[in-house]
Amino acid sequence: MDIFAVNTKPYSDQSFGTSGLRRKTEVFAQENYLENIVQSIFNSLEGFEGQTLVIGGDGRYRNDKAIQTIIKMAVANQFGHIIVGQNGLLSTPAASHIIEATKAFGGILLTASHNPGGKNGDFGIKYNIATGAPAPESLTNRFVENMHKIDHYWMIHAPDIDLSKVREQILGSTIIEIIDPVADYSRYMQQIFDFEAIRQLFQSGFKMTFDAMNAVTGPYAQYIFEELLGAPKGSVIRGTPLPDFGGMHPEPNLNYAKELVDLAYGKNAPDLCAASDGDGDRYMILGKSFFVNPADSLAVLAENMESIPFYKGRFYGVARSMPTGGAVDLVCQKLKKNCYQTPTGWKFFGSLLENQKISLCGEESFGAGSFHVMEKDGLWAILFWLNILAITRKTPEQLVKNIWTRYGRIYNLTVNYNTDSAVKAKHLMDSLSSKLVSVPNQTINEMTVSKACFFDYTDPVSKTLFTNQGILINFGPSDQAMIRLSGTVSSGATIKVYLHHKDQRTNLSSDTALEPLFNALQNLMNIPKYLGKNVQITKT
Ligand code: G1P
Ligand code: ZN
Repeated sequence: MDIFAVNTKPYSDQSFGTSGLRRKTEVFAQENYLENIVQSIFNSLEGFEGQTLVIGGDGRYRNDKAIQTIIKMAVANQFGHIIVGQNGLLSTPAASHIIEATKAFGGILLTASHNPGGKNGDFGIKYNIATGAPAPESLTNRFVENMHKIDHYWMIHAPDIDLSKVREQILGSTIIEIIDPVADYSRYMQQIFDFEAIRQLFQSGFKMTFDAMNAVTGPYAQYIFEELLGAPKGSVIRGTPLPDFGGMHPEPNLNYAKELVDLAYGKNAPDLCAASDGDGDRYMILGKSFFVNPADSLAVLAENMESIPFYKGRFYGVARSMPTGGAVDLVCQKLKKNCYQTPTGWKFFGSLLENQKISLCGEESFGAGSFHVMEKDGLWAILFWLNILAITRKTPEQLVKNIWTRYGRIYNLTVNYNTDSAVKAKHLMDSLSSKLVSVPNQTINEMTVSKACFFDYTDPVSKTLFTNQGILINFGPSDQAMIRLSGTVSSGATIKVYLHHKDQRTNLSSDTALEPLFNALQNLMNIPKYLGKNVQITKT
C-alpha cells in the first residue's frame, strides 16, 4: 500500500486543551486544517505503532468526512487496529469506555459537545488517553507545539471505508473494525444499575420521555430505555442523530430543550423527562412540573449512592465544581463523606476519581460522572435517577424537596454574557480583578461584600496549585457569586456569573430568591460599560 507524505503549513490559530479544539465548521473546512491536528497528535505520541486507536463522533456535519481522513492517516501512521463506531458514531462516555475496555492506545473523538452543529455551526476534535480520560495538559501542550511547526503529514491512497455495516476489514496491515456503538456501553450499564428494578418500574406504568435532541444518544436511549428496560415505544424523542441536530442547540437546559420542558410542565406530563447533549456527556432531569437543578440532582445521587449495587462499599466521596450550588456538601456532611470543591473542568474530577478520593462528581452545567468512565456521562446519570426512582418509588420532586426541607435550599442561577469581543471580555475581568482589593466591605444595592478573592485550588493528589480559577465574592454567609471566563466557546467570549443563595424558605421562585444578588452583580460588573450594547444574555 502506498503511504506518502503531504506537505503542509501550520495554522497559527490552532490550540488544543483537555476538551480538545472547537472551531466553526468552516474553519475545519480549510485545506489540511484537520490533517495538521491529527498528524500533530500522532507526532506527540510514542509507541502507538501496531496498537489500537478508537475513532468516533457525535454525528455532526463533517463527522463522516473527518473520520475517513483520520482512518487513512492512522493507517499511514502504522496503527495496527482501528475501532470505529458504526456510521461514525460514538458518544463521548461510550468511546471512553471502549478505549479502556479494549486496552486501546487512545481515541480520537469528533465533537463540539453541546455546541450547535451544521454548516454554520461548530466542529471539534479531542483526544483521549488509554484510561479513557481526556488528554492531560502535558500532552495537549505537545500537540500544540507540533501543530505550530508541522510541515507534512502521512496519508494513504484508498477508497472511503463503508462505515454502515458492523464488520472487520484489513487496509494495508491495519485491521479496521466497525462496531455497534451501543453494545459495549449498554452491557456496561447493566453491570452498574439494577435493570430488573427499573424494568418493574416501567411495568408499573411509569412514563418517561427522553429527548436525544437529534444527537448521538438517540440510538443508545432507544436500545436501553425502550428495548432493554421496556419503556413504551416513543419514549425516546428526536432519537435520530442529524448532522445539524435538526437546527437545535443540543444543550439540555431550560432554554434549549424548550419543547421537553413544556411537556414536563404540561397537562399530561410524564413521570420523568430527561435529555442529553450533542455527545452524550450531559443530562437534564425534570419531574412533573418540576425542574431538577443539577446541583440538587448531584445531592440526590450522593444520598442514594450506596443503594446502587456497583457503588456499595465504594463510595469514597464527592466533588462539585465551585460554580455548582453546594446542596451536595450538606448531604456529604450528614453521610460523613469528603466533598471537594474543584475549579471548572473535568481534569480536576479526573485526578480525584483516579485516586479514589471520590466516586461521584458533578457540575452546574448539567454534567455528572463517577469512576465508571473517565468522562462525564449523561445517560448514566439518567439511569442512576431511574434506579433511585425504582427503589424509592418517590417522584423527582419528592426526592429533591426532601433534601431542601432537611438542609435548607440553595437557589442557583448561571448568567452567561456572550460578546463577540474576547478583548473586551478580558478587559472586564481584569478591571473586576483589580477592583477586588477595594471591594471588601463595599455595600452594593444594600448587600455588603464580606469577602472577595480569586479561587485558587490545590489538587489534593498532585499538590499542584491552580491559581485564579475565577473570582469569588461572598455577601455574608448566604449569598455567593462566582465569575469566570468560559473556556469552551469557538469564537468571541462568554463571561459566566454563577449565583447562589441559601434560604430556609424552599418555595420561592429562583428569580425572586436571587434577584438581590443578581442586581448587586449587575451593578458591580457594569456590563454595558465594558461590553457595550451588543451582549447576548442567557440564564441557565
Ligand atoms: C463548560 C462548562 C463546564 C464543562 C465544560 C465542558 O465550560 O461550564 O462545566 O466542564 O463546558 O463540558 P466553560 O465553557 O464554562 O469553560
Ligand atoms: Zn458534551
